[in-house]
Amino acid sequence: MDDRELLELEKEYCSFGDTVHYSDPPKIFRRSEGQYLYDSQGTPYFDLQMWYSASSFGYKNENLNNALKKQLDTLPQLACQYLHEEKVLLAAKIGKLAKDRFGEKGRVHFNVGGAQAVDDAIKLIRNHVGKNLVFAFMGGYHGRTLGASAITSSYRYRRRYGHFGDRGLFIPYPYCYRCYYGKNLDDCGMYCIKQFEKLFETEYYGVWDAKAKKSEFFAFFIEAVQGTGGYVIPPKNYFKELKKVCDKYNILIVDDEIQMAWFRTGKMFAIENFGISPDVMVFGKALTNGLNPLSGIWAREELITPEKFPPGSTHSTFSSNTLGTAVALANLEAMEKEDLETKVNEKGEYMLGLLREMAKKYPQIGDVDGLGLTLRIEICKEDGFTPDRELCDEIFEEGLQGNLNYKGKKYGLILDVGGYYKNVFTLAPIFDITKDEMEMSVDLFEQTLINALKKQGALVSG
Ligand SMILES: Cc1ncc(COP(=O)(O)O)c(C=O)c1O
Repeated sequence: MDDRELLELEKEYCSFGDTVHYSDPPKIFRRSEGQYLYDSQGTPYFDLQMWYSASSFGYKNENLNNALKKQLDTLPQLACQYLHEEKVLLAAKIGKLAKDRFGEKGRVHFNVGGAQAVDDAIKLIRNHVGKNLVFAFMGGYHGRTLGASAITSSYRYRRRYGHFGDRGLFIPYPYCYRCYYGKNLDDCGMYCIKQFEKLFETEYYGVWDAKAKKSEFFAFFIEAVQGTGGYVIPPKNYFKELKKVCDKYNILIVDDEIQMAWFRTGKMFAIENFGISPDVMVFGKALTNGLNPLSGIWAREELITPEKFPPGSTHSTFSSNTLGTAVALANLEAMEKEDLETKVNEKGEYMLGLLREMAKKYPQIGDVDGLGLTLRIEICKEDGFTPDRELCDEIFEEGLQGNLNYKGKKYGLILDVGGYYKNVFTLAPIFDITKDEMEMSVDLFEQTLINALKKQGALVSG
C-alpha cells in the first residue's frame, strides 16, 4: 500500500490519541538498519534520538535478532505463571549488577512497558509504608498510565482525566540553566535543596508532623538525568545533598532509569554518576534494545521479600515474556563484552565538542550540554535565552523532509523535541557511531537549522 492510501486508512481507523499526529502528516517509515530509518522512497534518515534512547545498539541488531529467533524456535510463548530459564538468569544478572553498584542485595520484578513498571514501583513502596503520597520533580516524566501520570509533573497529561488524589508534590529540579529560583550555580549554595528541606521545618508547610516525626510523603521519584524534561544534567553533588535530606525524614528514593540506564550516560545506571544508591530502581526501553518490550523494577531486599510482596501482588499476562527476557539477556551479555563506559564517554565528549563548536556560530543555540551520549541542544531566540519553540519545531520538520544533502547524497534527520518549553533537542545517538558519522550528523543538524532560520527570515538565502 502506498503512503497516500495508508494515511487515508489511518485517518479513518487509528485513534489520534497517541503521539503520531504531533507531525502533520505523520511520517511513514518502511525499513530500519543501524542508525538509519528508510522512508518509502528509500531515503535514509539519520536517527539522532534512537527511539528515545530505546535502541542504543542499533536497529535490526544482528546479535539480538538472532537471540529472538532462537527463542522463537524454542519457547516463544509461556504463561508468566510458569518459569523459564531466561527470566531467572536475567533477574540474577540485574540483581548482581545492582549489588556491585549499590552494595545491597535486592530482587527484580518484570513488566512490559516503562509506565507499568513505574506503577509496580508505586505499589511496592505503598505496600511497604502503607501511604500513597510521593515527591517528584518538576520536569519529570514517568509515563502515561494513571499511576505514572499522577507523578509526572506536566498537567497536560492529567487535564482531561479528572481528579488525581495521589498526585505527586512537584519539587524544582536542578535545571541550572533556567534555575526555578533565578539563582546562579556558582554561588547558589544549593538553594534548591535548602528550600526542599524547609518543607520539614514546621507542620504548617504541609508535609511533616513534627510531633510524630512522620512525613505524609514517603518516597521521592527521581530521574538522575531528566529525559523528556530535556536531557537536563544536574550538578555532580546535587543528589548526595538531596539524599541526606531524604534519609533524615525517611523518604525512600525511587530512581527511574527507564530512559537513561544501560550506559546512555556513560555508566550502566545514570545514578552512578551522582554517587548515591536508590531504594528502588525502574528500567525498560534499551534493556531489550527496543526489540521486544520488557521493563522491570529492582528493589532492596527489605522492600520486596516474598513475605512483604507475596505471590500475586502485581501481575501482567506479558510481564516476563520469554522473547523479551531472552533478548535482554543477550543484550546484557553483549554489554559485558565491551568497555562501554570508556566508549560512550569518549564518543560523547567528541560529539559534545562538535556541537559546542557549531553552537558558537548561532546565537539561537542557548545551551549545549551532555553526559555520555546523552546530549542536549536548547533552541532560543537571538538573545540566546528566550525559548523558541517555533524555531525548534521548524528544525524538527526540516529533518523529516528528507531533503538534506551530505557529500552529494540525500538524507533526512530524526530528532526529538523535549524540554520544559519544548525547545530542546534531546540527542541519543547509537553507541557505535563513528567520528565521521558524528561529524555528518552535526552537519545535517546545521543544515536543518540554516533552512529553518532562512524560513523565518533570520538568515538571508544563498
Ligand atoms: C524516565 C521515563 N520514565 C518512564 C517512561 C515511560 O515508559 P513507557 O513509554 O515505556 O511507558 C519514559 C518514557 O519515555 C521515561 O523516559
